Amino acid sequence: MANIQSLRGMNDILGKDSELFTYFVDNASRIARNYGFSYMETPILEETALFKRSVGESSDIVNKEMYQFTDKGENDVCLRPEGTAGVVRSFVQNKFDRAGGTYRWYYYGPMFRYERPQKGRLREFHQFGAEVFGVSSVYEDANIIMMLKDILEFFKIGFKLQLNSLGCPTCMPVYRENLVKHLTSFKDELCEDCNRRIETNPIRVLDCKNENCQKLLYNAPKITNNLCEKCDTDFEKLKEILDFNGVEYEIDTNLVRGLDYYSQTAFEFVSDEIGAQSAIAGGGRYDKLVEFLGGRATPGIGFAIGIERLLELIKMNDDDNEIIYLGALSDEALNSLTKIASKKRETTKTIIEYTPRGFGKHFKLAEKQNATMVALIGENELNDGTIYTKNLNTQEERTIKIEEF
Ligand code: HAM
Repeated sequence: MANIQSLRGMNDILGKDSELFTYFVDNASRIARNYGFSYMETPILEETALFKRSVGESSDIVNKEMYQFTDKGENDVCLRPEGTAGVVRSFVQNKFDRAGGTYRWYYYGPMFRYERPQKGRLREFHQFGAEVFGVSSVYEDANIIMMLKDILEFFKIGFKLQLNSLGCPTCMPVYRENLVKHLTSFKDELCEDCNRRIETNPIRVLDCKNENCQKLLYNAPKITNNLCEKCDTDFEKLKEILDFNGVEYEIDTNLVRGLDYYSQTAFEFVSDEIGAQSAIAGGGRYDKLVEFLGGRATPGIGFAIGIERLLELIKMNDDDNEIIYLGALSDEALNSLTKIASKKRETTKTIIEYTPRGFGKHFKLAEKQNATMVALIGENELNDGTIYTKNLNTQEERTIKIEEF
C-alpha cells in the first residue's frame, strides 16, 4: 500500500523553513505591536456567505477557489481564503462598530485557495495581515503602507510598491460605465475571461494577464483620471505623505486587486526575484465592508503578506542566526556546560551535546546543526576554568576564561 502524502499544494513547515517562519512571525509581530496593533485570531472555518458577501461572488477566489462543503449540521461552510472577511465579521459580531473608536489588529495563519499549484502558489498558504477600523484619514493609509515597508526592510527584502485609487461609490460606477462602453467597442478581440468579466466585474479586465488584451487596453480610460473630488484629493495627499517620508512607489492604474471590497487606496508590494507569482503583499481601503456585513458604517483599511513568498526572499540576519554548540570531551565537564548554557540562552540559541566525544566528532555534529560557534571543555580546560571556542564563520579559535565566554 502506498504511503499517504500531504495534499497537492499543501506543505509541512519543517527544519530551516520552520526556523524562518518563526523568525518572520516574531519580528513582524513586534513591528506591528510597535505600530499600536494587537494580536487577534478568527476561526479557519466560516460560513460561506461571509466570503460571498465580502470578497465578492464575481471574484475568482469565491467563484473557483473555495474549499467549500456542507458540514454535519447542514451548514454551508468553507475554509477561509483570506483573513479580512473574518476580522470584519468579528468586529461587527463583537459590536465594536457600535462602541466607536479606533481598533488596530494583526493576525497570521493558514488560508486556503484551490488554485493550480506552482512556485509561490499554494493551496494552503499563510498570511500575516493587519486591519484598522475607525480611521478615515488618509494618514492611516500611509501608516499602513509604511508599516509594511518597515517589515519588508527589516528582513532586507527588495520590493516595488504599486499604488492605485479605486474610487468610491460616487465615482467608481460612472468610471465603470465608461470602461464598459470602451471595452464593448472591441469586445470580440478580448479573451474569453475578459468577455465574461465585462458582464460580471469590468474593472478586472484591466489586470488580465493576456498580452493581446493588455495591448488593446492601452487606450482604456484610467480610473485616476476619473476620480471624484474627494477621492482625487485623498489620493494626491497620500502621494504627498509618501513622498515626504521618502517612500518610493509607482502608480499602476491597472492594479484592481482580486477581491471586491476595496475602495480608494489599493496597493501591492511586488518582487522580481520570486518568479511569476511576484506579489508579496497586498491591501487597501474597504470603507463600505463593515456596513456591507451588517455593521454600522466604519472605515477600514489593511494588508496581508504572503508568508511563503516572503520566506523565499528572507536572508536571515547573521546575528539572529547565531547558534552555539556546547560539547564535552569527558563526563566531568558536562556540569559546567549546563551552567554555561543557561547563561548563554538568555540571548542566544544554544545546544548541548550530552555525550562526551572527541574533537573531530563534535565538529561534525555542530556542522549538522548549523552551529556558528563550537565551544568545548576537555580535561585541560576543566583544570584551568577555561573553554575552547571556534567561530565557524571566521574560523577564529580561542581558549578563554569561562566567565569571559
Ligand atoms: P491577497 O492579495 O489576495 O489579499 O493576498 C495577500 C497575499 O497573500 C498575496 O500578495 C500573496 O503574497 C499571498 N497569496 C495569495 N494567494 C496565495 C497562494 N495561493 N499561495 C501563496 N501565497 C498566496 C488578501 O488576501 C487581503 N485579505 C489583504 C487585505 C487585508 N486587504 C485589506 N486587508
